[in-house]
Amino acid sequence: MKIFLDTADLNEIRRANEAGLIDGITTNPSLLAKVAGDRSPRDIFLDICREVDGPVSAEVVAIDAEGMVSEGRKLADIHENIVVKVPLTENGLRACRTLRANEIRVNVTLCFSAVQALLAAKAGASYISPFVGRLDDVGHDGIEIVSEIREVYDEYELETEILAASLRHPKHVLESALVGADCATLPPGVLYKLLRHPLTDAGLESFLADWKALGKGL
Ligand code: G3P
Repeated sequence: MKIFLDTADLNEIRRANEAGLIDGITTNPSLLAKVAGDRSPRDIFLDICREVDGPVSAEVVAIDAEGMVSEGRKLADIHENIVVKVPLTENGLRACRTLRANEIRVNVTLCFSAVQALLAAKAGASYISPFVGRLDDVGHDGIEIVSEIREVYDEYELETEILAASLRHPKHVLESALVGADCATLPPGVLYKLLRHPLTDAGLESFLADWKALGKGL
């Protein structure tokens, strides 16, 4: 399963990328707004694309199809790594078809059901982003939706990649992998929680103490 970092923070992106932990980046307007300051979204996306050799999702903010297509073209012109993110609305799917016809990759976001995901795949989405945590928040089972999407896509041999999003903890990541998500996007805090285990820390501490007691170098 590919791992993407869900942030527009270049320091976090650099750290995870240099450690070889990530395959790409996802952003959304809220994440951009957090880091933008006086910088233009274009410059932020360009810096991210120069840093990471993988897909970088950049979201449109228009709500009409024509506006989404025009913004999508501008975003795709920034760098070849850009994947244009559109919302799962009727206009979003119209825009998805047009962008795909122009060979621009599209990530259809704000997906909350397998039937929505089916429509996005038929519109030519490269990625579908089901929001696991936000489904859990309203009393649904987010992972169950990811599993249903997997079943539908496999049944009809649809090539859209399932990008599990809104993941809030390592268990969401494990469960996404177990039900066959192609990618998972995680905020930095969740990414580093995947690495940590108290037994790893304790084991390392005792190995180092034993070696120090031996008093020799390598
Ligand atoms: O970027 C989309 C998604 O991952 C947002 O997650 O935590 O705001 O529901 P969250």
